[in-house]
Amino acid sequence: MNSDQLLVRLLIDGYVVIPDVLDADEIVEAREAFERKVKEHKAHGLSWVQLRSEESMVYGTCHPKLMAVIDAFESYYDQEAILCCHNGARDAGVRESYDEAEEARMTGFSADDLRNRAGWHDDGTVLKGVRDVFSTTSVTALLYLDPTYAHNGAFITAVGSHHLHFSFGTRGDKPYYPDRALLLDNCELRPVPVEAGSAILFRAQSWHGVLPTHLKHRRLLVQCFCAKSMFYEMHGHNVFANEAANLPEEKHRYLYGEEDGWAKQKTGALQDILYMQAENSSLGSGILGISMWVNGKKQELSGNPKEWPYHSPLAAINDGWRVIQFPNLALLMNEENPQGLGCEFILERRRGE
Ligand SMILES: [Fe+2]
Repeated sequence: MNSDQLLVRLLIDGYVVIPDVLDADEIVEAREAFERKVKEHKAHGLSWVQLRSEESMVYGTCHPKLMAVIDAFESYYDQEAILCCHNGARDAGVRESYDEAEEARMTGFSADDLRNRAGWHDDGTVLKGVRDVFSTTSVTALLYLDPTYAHNGAFITAVGSHHLHFSFGTRGDKPYYPDRALLLDNCELRPVPVEAGSAILFRAQSWHGVLPTHLKHRRLLVQCFCAKSMFYEMHGHNVFANEAANLPEEKHRYLYGEEDGWAKQKTGALQDILYMQAENSSLGSGILGISMWVNGKKQELSGNPKEWPYHSPLAAINDGWRVIQFPNLALLMNEENPQGLGCEFILERRRGE
């Protein structure tokens, strides 16, 4: 299938398999690199920071065969693709306790197993506080270094389930999240086994899970992409422009901030500002208004207070913002005649530090 055909499947089914992203030699190199880092860090789940010194991990990140489809997906929404979160790589195999006989005994899953043993969820609702429009335009890439089997360790998806998640029409501002039982009853629950070197792309609103495994290894790289204009919706996990040094130049366009100049970001000179109009002067107070400036640009936030990224100054502080101005209480001396917008907190966040 060419990238247009792959896009069509992603739009219709909510997922698509991209075969042969890595060739046989590249798979071997990536496995070796992964094992080196497993030894070094004594962990089977490794972060991007732990992996980025390995050439093969950089090679698999924003790989052109993935990006051909992801770019097409974002342009479908009139958006540009950006790497918003790199989840590193992990092995979900049972390496130490691996038993070949046990693997051979894995014969298949009943319909009940498919419903009850896969850990069904959609990433859109798992991500804290993101707007619906963010999950609509978000896609995750799983790049496999080992094969999986329908009866052993495969990703599983409820085909087309992303169509059941929406926030328009009669539902208005209140996003509609499909009932789990309704969804599992009405979508095909399809295991998606892959060859080593292949990738699965799936949409954040697509329901999915993973089937139990007795494989010795199930190593994979996990990368999340979103629309560039919504980069800051995914608070706290973002990949910034200062990753440029780790990725080759042709991939820089997938890092946020490229067009605004790397140098400033790398030195941490850029300051993001958050204005919050609170109900009172307490940090835990609810808020009446919010505006956010990131990288010199005002961010588009929802008109619906429920969808604001923070619901109190304290919540913003807990997410890494620092208060640089507390409300001026002198303006509030006369309770009968409040001035302006009441209690305004101003917070900052510096990037690249
Ligand atoms: Fe997930």
